[in-house]
Formats: sequence, structure tokens, C-alpha cells
Amino acid sequence: MDALRVRGTGKPLVGKVRISGAKNAALPILCATLLSDGASRLRNVPRLRDMETTSALLRFLGREVTFDAPEIQVAAGSQVRPEAPYELVKQMRASVLVLGPLVARFGRAKVSLPGGCAIGARPIDQHLKGLEAMGCSIKLERGYVLAEGPGGGGRLRGAEVYFDLPTVTGTENIMMAAALAKGRSTLVNCAREPEIEELGRILNKMGAEVNGAGTDVIHIVGAEPGKLAPFDHAIIPDRIEAGTYMVAAAMVDGGDVVLEGAELGDLEALSQKLRAAGVEITSEAQNIRVRRRGPLRSVNITTAPHPGFPTDMQAQFLALMCLARGESVISETIFENRFMHVPELQRMGASVALRGNTAVVQGVSKLYGASVMATDLRASASLVLAGLASDEETEIRRVYHLDRGYERIEEKLAGLGAHVERVKGAEA
Ligand code: EPZ
Repeated sequence: MDALRVRGTGKPLVGKVRISGAKNAALPILCATLLSDGASRLRNVPRLRDMETTSALLRFLGREVTFDAPEIQVAAGSQVRPEAPYELVKQMRASVLVLGPLVARFGRAKVSLPGGCAIGARPIDQHLKGLEAMGCSIKLERGYVLAEGPGGGGRLRGAEVYFDLPTVTGTENIMMAAALAKGRSTLVNCAREPEIEELGRILNKMGAEVNGAGTDVIHIVGAEPGKLAPFDHAIIPDRIEAGTYMVAAAMVDGGDVVLEGAELGDLEALSQKLRAAGVEITSEAQNIRVRRRGPLRSVNITTAPHPGFPTDMQAQFLALMCLARGESVISETIFENRFMHVPELQRMGASVALRGNTAVVQGVSKLYGASVMATDLRASASLVLAGLASDEETEIRRVYHLDRGYERIEEKLAGLGAHVERVKGAEA
């Protein structure tokens, strides 16, 4: 397994960085190609492991996929196998996003339960509840979801679906199922992330009738079987990658970074908290400029569903608060185990006390270099940020976590003056 060696210079990041396409928009949109038999093209797709995994899954299902970043082309193959095996789903739990499209398009699906992951149990009960409301029969057998349309594989029926809590991929799965269900569906208490709005745009481009994507109530009129058309679309920028580089710019006094192609509108909650910490944020056309001049103020955050403070930015913001003056209280309300970066940051000299789903951070004057372990995607990003702020060397192991969500991170950071190198095979 590779490691990243960050040689902290104690100097701020300065320069321009281009933000890649959003992985969490590309994933559901690639699964939406299962709803049509034409040849679709997706552009501005980041070269990430999760994109390779999704391509492999679509090929397994019988699609012809060409992934030549930043483009992916998907077309119908000669046969369809509506089955997502454990070997593929265990690599990426978002594979569960094929469930809705498969049962809507082919009347049945056999999809491995994703299982939990480092940050939490991550059940899919809301996905299954939504499909059952649409007439789907669901059986759980030997770690698989066996889903079948009404009457032994018939067409799903439009329905009213009430989510017990806002779930991003749950909302996306049911949107795609409703796009081919018979009649109208109303989805209530939906997640409101920009990636859901983007999926709504795609389903409309394909010929479904989707209104309200990005709000908590979504109305969908399903298209007739075989009537959804392929699409050609360039996806939105990755707001979490952008947020990560915004925090990176603030880690050392004097930081001045322009994020090219980022959308400030998707990052209001983060921007407000960075400004409260004393960071200057301005938007210039399609760019965001982040400057840090002077000491950081401590700021409290509580993660919440969009448009609240994103849980995917909690680890990165906590790393920043390790260097702020005073005490910050960081509360994580979305996942039950999303503080695994804390013990690693403590090895670097951070002063953090964990109490249940809250971390109390006391700012320190500096962080030390250390050997640390990445545990999940965003935790690994927070360790890179901490390494950038130190003036010593930090080695971050198991960076395959990082490669899931950050395209060419060494190159992008080097372009901002950081010294980051990949150590191949650092760990057997
Ligand atoms: C999506 O995961 C993102 N992944 C995650 O990003 C992100 O952290 C998460 O949304 C929250 O914003 C993709 O979009 C591919 P949820 P998802 O369903 O959909 C509970 C990253 O870093 N829940 O919104 O799996 C669940 O346990 C990844 O890029 C149920 O109880 O998250 C959690 O506590 C990590 N039952 C909460 O809801 C369900 O059926 C929110 O989960 C579904 C979810």
C-alpha cells in the first residue's frame, strides 16, 4: 500500500488549483445510464478509484463502458445481468445505487448489502422502504438484497415515499426508480445536496419529469418503458474537494489560493465558518479565492444535512481548529464514528478531547511531523492538511483511502508550493 510523505515547510500555500468533477455526482449519474439503452457520455469525470469501480460494476451488469478520464461513455451491451456481487459492492458502498435503476428497468435485481464501513453502520433501510412503497418485494438472503417488481418482476408503481431521515443515496436510488415507475411519485423529507439536484437535471434530460430535486420534496412522473434517452453531460465541480483546498489555504498564515471552477454557492455553510475563523473568502467569476492573514479564531461547528455544515468537511475543519486560538467544539451528527482522524492528529501534537459525538479542540501553536494512518477518505485528507501546517515530515499510510476522492492530490498540492511525494508500496 502506498504512503504520502508530506514535508511541511511551515510556509503557506499560494497559487491556483483546478477543482475536478464531483465524484458524488458522477456515481448516481453513471448508475442512471442503466435506465436507458442508448450510448451516454459523461464529461468532467475525475480519475478516481471509485470511477474505475463503478465502470467495472456497469460492465459486470452487461454495459459497455469506456473510461478515458475525464470522459466516460456507457452503452448497452449484448446481455444484462441485474446482479451486483459482494466483491464489487464491498469496494464501494455507493454501488447500492444500481438497485433502483435495475429493478425499475429490468423488474428485478440482486445486489449485495453494502455492509458498514469505518465511519458507521450505514444501513440502507430507507432505500428498501422506498422501493417497497413502489410495489417492489424485497428479500434479504445471505447478504444480498433480492428485489422484484410487482407481480413477479412487473413495472414499479409511482408512490408517496416518506424518508425517516434525509439520505443522499437513498433519495437518489428512489428518484431513479421513480423515473421509470408507472405514474406519479412524491418523495418527502429528501436530502437536498447539489449532487441530487444534478441527478434531477440528468433524469429530465433523459425524458423523465422531475421537479424539486435539491429541495425536501421531489415530484416525479415516470416515463414509459424504453422511453428514457441517453444523455451527454458535464458534471458539476466537487464541492468537498473544493472545501478541502479552501481549508488547506487557511492552514498557514499568508495562504492565498484561487480555486478554479469551484462553486461558492454549494459551500455557504463552510464559507461562513471559515470567515468566522478569520479567513477571507471571495468569489471571482467561476473561481473562489481564499486568503489567510493573521491568527485563526476558534469556531464551533455541528454537521447537518445540506445546506448545513457538511459531514464530509468535518475532519478537515477539525484539523484547522487544532491551530486556532482557544477552544472549538466540533459535533458530528450524521455518522456515529467519524472521529478516527483525532487519535492520528493527537500523534501530531493536537489537543483534542472526544466526548461521544463531540470533539473539544484546544488550539496549539504548532503540529509535529509523525507517521500516521489514514482510516477513511476525509480523515486522510485532514492528516494531509495537518502535515502541510507542520514544519516537519509526516508520512500518511494507506492513502488508498485518499485516492478515492482526491484526483492527483500530490500534483495539485505541489502546484501550490507544497512538498508531497507518494511512496509506492510503503506497507506490505
Ligand atoms: C452520501 O453517503 C455520500 N456518499 C457520503 O460521502 C456523505 O458523507 C453522506 O452522503 C452524507 O452527506 C455518496 O454520495 C456516494 P446518507 P450516503 O444515506 O448516502 C443514515 C464521501 O466522503 N441512513 O445520506 O451513504 C446513515 O447511517 C462519502 O464522499 C439510514 O439510517 O449517506 C447516516 O447516519 C462518505 N438508513 C445518515 O442516514 C438509510 O437507509 C446519512 O446517510 C440510509 C442512511
